[in-house]
Amino acid sequence: MTRILFFGDVVGKPGLEILAQELPALRRLHRPDFVVVNGENLDVTLPELGKAGMRPESLRALLALGVDAVTGGNHSFDPPWAEEVLGHARVVRPLNFSRHAPGKGSLLLRKGGKELLVVNLAGRSALAHAGDPVEAFEGVLHGWQGAPILVDFHSESVFEKLGFAYLFDGQVAAVLGTHTHVATQDARILPQGTGYVSDVGMVGADGGFQGYHPDFLVEAIRRRLPPKGLRLRPAEGPGRISYVFLELKGPRAQGILHVSEVVDLPGGNTSAAPQEGEAQEGQEGNV
Ligand SMILES: [Fe+2]
Ligand SMILES: [Fe+2]
Repeated sequence: MTRILFFGDVVGKPGLEILAQELPALRRLHRPDFVVVNGENLDVTLPELGKAGMRPESLRALLALGVDAVTGGNHSFDPPWAEEVLGHARVVRPLNFSRHAPGKGSLLLRKGGKELLVVNLAGRSALAHAGDPVEAFEGVLHGWQGAPILVDFHSESVFEKLGFAYLFDGQVAAVLGTHTHVATQDARILPQGTGYVSDVGMVGADGGFQGYHPDFLVEAIRRRLPPKGLRLRPAEGPGRISYVFLELKGPRAQGILHVSEVVDLPGGNTSAAPQEGEAQEGQEGNV
């Protein structure tokens, strides 16, 4: 049995602080063999341009929590120093991107006699210049008889993510969607044993627009340019944590639990009180 905790897009300092606050108890509860985190929004890297990605010091702080692998998405390539963080041994970025781009699209984890291959893919709805995720993944599968495979599929489109999951049902342990920052209520195990959720959702401050203060993003939509005088910055509280806990038997999923719930924002503004019924827990699961 292999146990995995996977956290959706961690947004900014609030997201990192929420993860640091909540992870110890989740480790005690679920005793994961591997912890995987989508880190494409870990920092606002160029606030006047609305760019995300990761700073080296934030990546170090994330890994200091005992995270085994950090996945990415369209924002993996945002900051000018992307090459530095993408070159880290524990970082992956979408596989189906230019072969000349820095970084790697898959990472084999080994710990305590267990193995997990983490693969990151992106849909074109999230990353315009991405290649065909199916073709790219067939390249990974070709001759693969090793560890169970976890796919972080980073896409705006449920159709694309669900289609991919059915296409490779039974060949991968799980296809977990990221990118929208909104947790979907469709976690399940497909007929041949692939764990699936369309979007895990985010870890971050929940009082805004995908974890960010809405002013920059709304003006950017209206003007079609980064708005002058505004900076992209994380939203205010409450906090939200979104994750999937998977139990694998061999190369397939035996249980999937998807949680997206309101939590305290450590030392933060919690003035935007959670709405009644906002917490969603254990939407689907055999765990
Ligand atoms: Fe994201
Ligand atoms: Fe994204």
